[in-house]
Formats: sequence, C-alpha cells, structure tokens
Amino acid sequence: MEKVFQLFYVSKLKEGSNLSVIDQILQHSRASNPKKGITGILMFRAGIFLQLLEGEEKEVLELFKKIEKDPRHHHVMQLLATKNPRLFEDWSMSYRELSELDVKMINEILSWNRLINAERDVDNSSILYMLERFKHALR
Ligand SMILES: Cc1cc2nc3c(=O)[nH]c(=O)nc-3n(C[C@H](O)[C@H](O)[C@H](O)COP(=O)(O)O)c2cc1C
Repeated sequence: MEKVFQLFYVSKLKEGSNLSVIDQILQHSRASNPKKGITGILMFRAGIFLQLLEGEEKEVLELFKKIEKDPRHHHVMQLLATKNPRLFEDWSMSYRELSELDVKMINEILSWNRLINAERDVDNSSILYMLERFKHALR
C-alpha cells in the first residue's frame, strides 16, 4: 500500500476563545485540504487540540508551518512524524470531541512512549492504533 507522510501534534486553544473557532477551522480545512491531497482528524477537549495531518510530505509540512503560526492556538508540539498507509482516506478533516476516557488513553500512550523512548526509537504504533479506533467511530 502506498505510504503517505503523517504528522501528529498537540496544541492549546488560545485562552478566552469562543468554541466557534473549531467550526471555522473545520470549514476552512474541509474546503482547502482536498486541493492539497491532505486528510486527517482534528480532536478537541478542554482547550487542547490534537491533529493528524496526512498527505504528501511537502504539502503536509507547508500546511503545518501555517498552522504553527496560527494565533488561534499556541504551544504547538509535534508528537509524531512518520510514513504509513493513509488512515483517513475518506476524510478531508474529520473531527472528534474527546471523551474523558479518550484523554486517559492518550495520556497512557504518551507517557508509555516517553518511558520507552529512553531506551529505543519512538514507538508510533500505539498512537496509530488509537487513531484507527477513532476512525471506526466516525460516521
Ligand atoms: C488547530 C488548527 C488546525 C488547523 N487545521 C487546518 C487544516 O487541516 N487545513 C487548513 O487548511 N487549515 C487548517 N488550519 C488553519 C491554518 O492555520 C490557516 O489558517 C490556514 O491554513 C490558512 O490558509 P490560507 O493561507 O491557505 O488561506 C488549522 C488551524 C488550527 C488552529
């Protein structure tokens, strides 16, 4: 299967923002991403964004550069950059409001990764497995 570049990051919504910014971001993403062959998922809970961008490496990095500078959020931190078969082929940008349980799972994955990264290369498989589960919950 053909591999694409996947970039996964976390960021913080600017304090005092109206949650309607999420709709604005999704609207823009869904109009613009198909032109660039970009797909993915945006997740949100309690002021925290997580987003997976996937597509051609050049397009994803170009978009990520813009996203990093977007004043609607800050503390943008890349968590994963890898090459894999595309996960969200049917979604220009899907959306999931994270549950408390989701957050717990993400926390566990990230702290586990931190633990084993001290020893080995980055283990991306648990993040990708989680995203795959989220994909199956999309309508
Ligand atoms: C959390 C977050 C996620 C975003 N995701 C996307 C995206 O997937 N696609 C996109 O085109 N813009 C996205 N944006 C908006 C970009 O930061 C930027 O405003 C937009 O790409 C500008 O597009 P233009 O310069 O092509 O008009 C996102 C912004 C934020 C804050």
